[in-house]
Amino acid sequence: MASKITVKAPSSTANLGPGFDVFGLAIDAFHDEVTLTKTKSGVTIITDDKIPTNPEKNTAGLVVKNMKKKFKIKGGIEIKIKKGVPSGFGMGSSAASAAAAAVAFDKLFALRLDGNSLVEFAGSGEKASAGSIHYDNVAASVLGGFVIVKTDPLDIIRVEPPTNLRMCIAVPNIDVPKKKTKVSRSVIPKKIKLTDSILNLSNASAIVAGFMKKDPVLIGNSIKDVIVEPARRHMIPGFAKVKQNALKAGALGVTISGAGPSVIAFSKSSANLKKICLSMSRGFASKKIKCQTIICKPTKGAADKRK
Ligand code: HSE
Repeated sequence: MASKITVKAPSSTANLGPGFDVFGLAIDAFHDEVTLTKTKSGVTIITDDKIPTNPEKNTAGLVVKNMKKKFKIKGGIEIKIKKGVPSGFGMGSSAASAAAAAVAFDKLFALRLDGNSLVEFAGSGEKASAGSIHYDNVAASVLGGFVIVKTDPLDIIRVEPPTNLRMCIAVPNIDVPKKKTKVSRSVIPKKIKLTDSILNLSNASAIVAGFMKKDPVLIGNSIKDVIVEPARRHMIPGFAKVKQNALKAGALGVTISGAGPSVIAFSKSSANLKKICLSMSRGFASKKIKCQTIICKPTKGAADKRK
């Protein structure tokens, strides 16, 4: 058995509009890398990034601790984390480290866990940053592609995305609250109107059909959320302008990426993606905010770096 392994896990976008806490999509914009090495004792974290190094407060650290306990692994583990996914911007940063840690642990100890178990362990790490467990980002980051999170019992349904689906992401250069996901979950209404629920359900269903039929236009045109986006958009200065500009530039649908503040526009490979990115930058610039824009596509899940 190897004594060391490195796993790379992708960024992800959660919700895709109406699929709050249910939909996730792995995207190739950024990656995290986690190297696990067997040691004599304890769980230690080494990193050059600004993240907690206390395993109890670190997503990857919690995953390793939980898996170590569950599988009664003796000896210690050193966790080396190289962050590529910007933290706190709605790109599944904590999920990517958690996913990489779960997959690396599975491989290091030859556990051969199934996808649902890996997602469940990766989700246990999310608690460290989000304060609650939700599986949309981790499922996408572990399994890749488009995922539907079915709960009670947890069952992740994975669908291979169309190869010509493209996204433009605008990551604004703004300060985010420390416990951002917790804060942005607190603004969501506890009760919703039946008509809003019907609208979201119809769009969510159409998104699933779009992935099954490999139809980026159906996916993009159905990225419409009348429940969570209206409750959260005030937290993103310039959101209305960014969305309006991207739609004008040819995007099929635009929404908040996960809990934000990044904004994601859905399109297809034949569209003028640079124009969409530029229009989103101009939207943020209208509020004097700089942003990084990235053109990206769906990608595979966490994997051994050598493969
Ligand atoms: N579905 C979650 C949310 C994703 O929107 O709060 C956050 O990472």
